[in-house]
Parts: sequence; C-alpha cells; structure tokens
Amino acid sequence: MDLDWKNLSFGYIKTDYNIRSYFRDGAWTTPELTTDETVTMHMAATCLHYGQEAFEGQKAFRGADGVIRIFRPEENAKRMRSSAEYLKMALPPVDMFVDMMKRVVKANERFVPPYGTGASLYIRPVLFGTGPQVGVKPAGEYLLIVFVTPVGPYYKEGFNPIKVLIDRDHDRAAPLGTGHVKAGGNYAASLTSAEIGHEKGYPSVLYLDAKEKKHIDECGAANFFGIRDGVYITPKSHSVLPSITNMSLMTLAAEMGLKVEQRPVDYDELGTFDEAGSCGTAAVLSPIGSIYDPQTGHTFVYNDGKPGKWSEKLYHRLRAIQYAEEPDTYGWMAAL
Ligand code: PLP
Ligand code: COI
Repeated sequence: MDLDWKNLSFGYIKTDYNIRSYFRDGAWTTPELTTDETVTMHMAATCLHYGQEAFEGQKAFRGADGVIRIFRPEENAKRMRSSAEYLKMALPPVDMFVDMMKRVVKANERFVPPYGTGASLYIRPVLFGTGPQVGVKPAGEYLLIVFVTPVGPYYKEGFNPIKVLIDRDHDRAAPLGTGHVKAGGNYAASLTSAEIGHEKGYPSVLYLDAKEKKHIDECGAANFFGIRDGVYITPKSHSVLPSITNMSLMTLAAEMGLKVEQRPVDYDELGTFDEAGSCGTAAVLSPIGSIYDPQTGHTFVYNDGKPGKWSEKLYHRLRAIQYAEEPDTYGWMAAL
C-alpha cells in the first residue's frame, strides 16, 4: 500500500472492506465482509428521525515485532452494549463484536500503517436503527457496521500542547442525559461549540457541567485530566463518557506511583494543576498548554505551554504498549 503514512491526518480513506451484521427477527445475522461503502435503508428508519444510533472508536497498531494488534476491543464491545441499552437498540454480543473488529482489520491488513510511522488503523463500529417507525419507538431492525481507516494525529499539534476554550453557552449533554454513552446525538450537540472554538483558533473546547457550570466535564471528544503534586485527577460525572484511554492511563499513572482520583473536578482547580491534558482513542494523550475562559478573561497556562513530565511519561508508556515496544503487562493488546 502506497500512502504517505507519516503525514496522515484524522480523516476517511477508503479501504477494501467493511463488515456488517443485521439484527432481524430477533437475531443477528452472521457478519459478512463487503466492499460496499453505502447503506440502503427505509426513509422512516429510526436512526434518521429519532437519533437511534451509537458508535465506537478504537485503533489497531502494527507493533515493533510486525504483529498487528487491537487495543482493548472488549471494552468497546461493552461500551457499545451500554450505549445500545440506553438507546433501546439491539445489543451486539461481545464475542461477535470483537470478532468483527478483528476480521475487518485482517481483511484490510494492507492499510495498517507500518511500524515507526506513528500512524494506526482507526476502527469505527456503528450501530443504528434501520427499521421504520413514525411514532417515537425503538426500531425492530438494526445494522452494525465496522469500518476502518488509516489515521495520523487527531490534532495537527500532535503531541504539542493544544489551546482550549471554555464554552459556557452550549452543553454537549444534559446532567441526566446521554453523555455517559457514545450516542451520535452528543456529537451533533457539540458541533456548534466546536465550530466556535475553531473559528477562534482553539482546536478543542472544554465543557463545564450543564447544571451549575461548577465542574469540569469533557474536553471536546476526549476526557480531561489534571496532574497536581503527584496526583492524577480526572472528572467523574454522568455526562462524561467512560474513556478506555483514560481508564488505561489511570492504571499506568498508578503504576508510575501517581495517586489517582476520579471524582467531580471543580472549576477552581483549573488554576492549581501543574499539567493538564485530554485523552481518547483519537486524541491519544494531548497535553493542554492553556485554557481560556472568556467569561473571566483569564487564561490558565500549564507548564509554560510545554508538555509536562508526567504527561510525557504516560504518553510514551501507553504508546510503547500499543506498538509492542514494551511488555503488554495488563493483557490489553489483542492479536487478530
Ligand atoms: N469523551 C468523548 C466525548 C469521546 O468522544 C471520546 C472518544 O471516544 C472519549 C471521551 C475518549 O474515549 P476513548 O478513550 O474510549 O476513546
Ligand atoms: C474517538 O476517540 O474514537 C472518538 O470518538 C473521537 C472523535 C473522532 C469522535
């Protein structure tokens, strides 16, 4: 495969296959690979009208030993099931879901970036209601597709710290709403603030809790964390997506001797962190250089706008496990 691997952005590149399973008559069909990039469905499909849709994101890596492995695919299967449960969709079995991820990566092996390029193969499972309804009710039929695309860094900054804007004028998720699941609707709700951020030169916005604007929620399409005096602190909230990357970083932080706190994080703490960052499958670990709050006119600056030492250590340790440069101590990497 001849791609400019070192300069890939985070976008869609056509690959050879995607894999699909249909939920019909109460059962999932045997997953099948296809070259078709399109979907034909009923115009009254519930995903189109009532947002009955959820997705996942994960990556496959070509390791230093040449072996292709997926990072913690079972966690994606479990989270997809929790999204499906909340949105009243059919729940894909964990084994089938993981098998689909592995099969589609295998079928598109030539698109898995070479080791050493820093790129990876992004895996995007998507589940949606295809059955027709006009009343607001769950569909009777669903389609689960897993496609892949080779990607580079999510932020053009790469591992260079990003500038973040606080947006108090828009919420991505309601306090008791869908923030804890990966519903497409959350992302639709984030587009306005993301665009405002981009127009002002901020690659990401920081959301405060929707009810009181007192606590930190999410950092764009990634979790937020702060590090202070040897403590890794990250928000716990019903409107924050349980990030697989963050869960892994918490394990690695503890391994490095940091104390880990997952709890509501007060806005006022923003001024106390030595380091701050955002983390997620796409974002990996992106240090935050500064956070601007237009309401107060204050800019919080972290480590003089350079990556902090703990952020660097965590980033390198996670990447080393993903690219099989260091032992997979926790059994996170799944070979195909
Ligand atoms: N929060 C949001 C809103 C996200 O879209 C993502 C990306 O998946 C994350 C957090 C990070 O989750 P994960 O590490 O599982 O990719
Ligand atoms: C991911 O990190 O997988 C995401 O979902 C982020 C974004 C591309 C939606």
